[in-house]
Amino acid sequence: MIKQITETVDYLKEKGFDNPEIGIILGTGLGQLIDEIEIIKQVSYNHIPNFPTATVEFHKGRLIYGILEGKKVIVMQGRFHLYEGYTLQDITYPVRIMEKLGIKTLLVSNAAGAINLDFKKGELMLIEDHINLQGSSPLAFKGVELLGERFTDMSAPYDETINNTFKSIAKKNKIKLHEGVYSSVVGPQLETKAEYRMLKIIGADAVGMSTVPEVIVANHLKLKVAAVSVLTDECDPDNLEPVNIADIIANAAKAEPDMIILFKELIKSI
Ligand code: HPA
Repeated sequence: MIKQITETVDYLKEKGFDNPEIGIILGTGLGQLIDEIEIIKQVSYNHIPNFPTATVEFHKGRLIYGILEGKKVIVMQGRFHLYEGYTLQDITYPVRIMEKLGIKTLLVSNAAGAINLDFKKGELMLIEDHINLQGSSPLAFKGVELLGERFTDMSAPYDETINNTFKSIAKKNKIKLHEGVYSSVVGPQLETKAEYRMLKIIGADAVGMSTVPEVIVANHLKLKVAAVSVLTDECDPDNLEPVNIADIIANAAKAEPDMIILFKELIKSI
């Protein structure tokens, strides 16, 4: 993997991806942040050597380098999911690349279902901890110790200082920001009622199909990490309605302006 990483990093450096400070992974519901960036360079994922190629049609799939709130940022517009058939190593490869390019902080967004029924669709949740239910680890491969500590500490995977800043930004801007535990599943099928019941029992507040692999690798690389979920549906096992993907995307879009305020103000503060 080291040889591939070097090749990818050399390509991006040559394209002008010069020392970004902050990496951002835009999930469903944060695409509009792109409009706020003074874009310097952008490359489609399928032009980047050794990058997985984007498949899900509502993700445009490009890596963007530019200035946001005076900071050099690198942004993944669209991410890779386990349910698309990639490996956990593929999904997290871009995090390794962003780190080698220079980022010190990784900010992540995603869409998730609300397991905690005090949380409503269209609201936001700051991830304070997670439960990995994807069946494996992005660090479970030969040679991982050449890239960082194999037995990566996960006692505090989300940066407390950044989370506190997020909370004060939310308060100042009257944005409702819950805090909770995010659990990651493989998907792409949604959960059964019995699975939603189990998720609640084991301590999850939200469930989604991403983020945890990227956060694990970011911790492997000792990056500071924070992540925010937009809650797109309410997972009440006793009153479960069939999920409609169009509704999920529409609910994610509703929360987008608040997400953008949180991310922009946070970046300003770094
Ligand atoms: N389950 C899993 N992933 C999701 C959900 C859900 O209910 N909502 C949005 N992403």
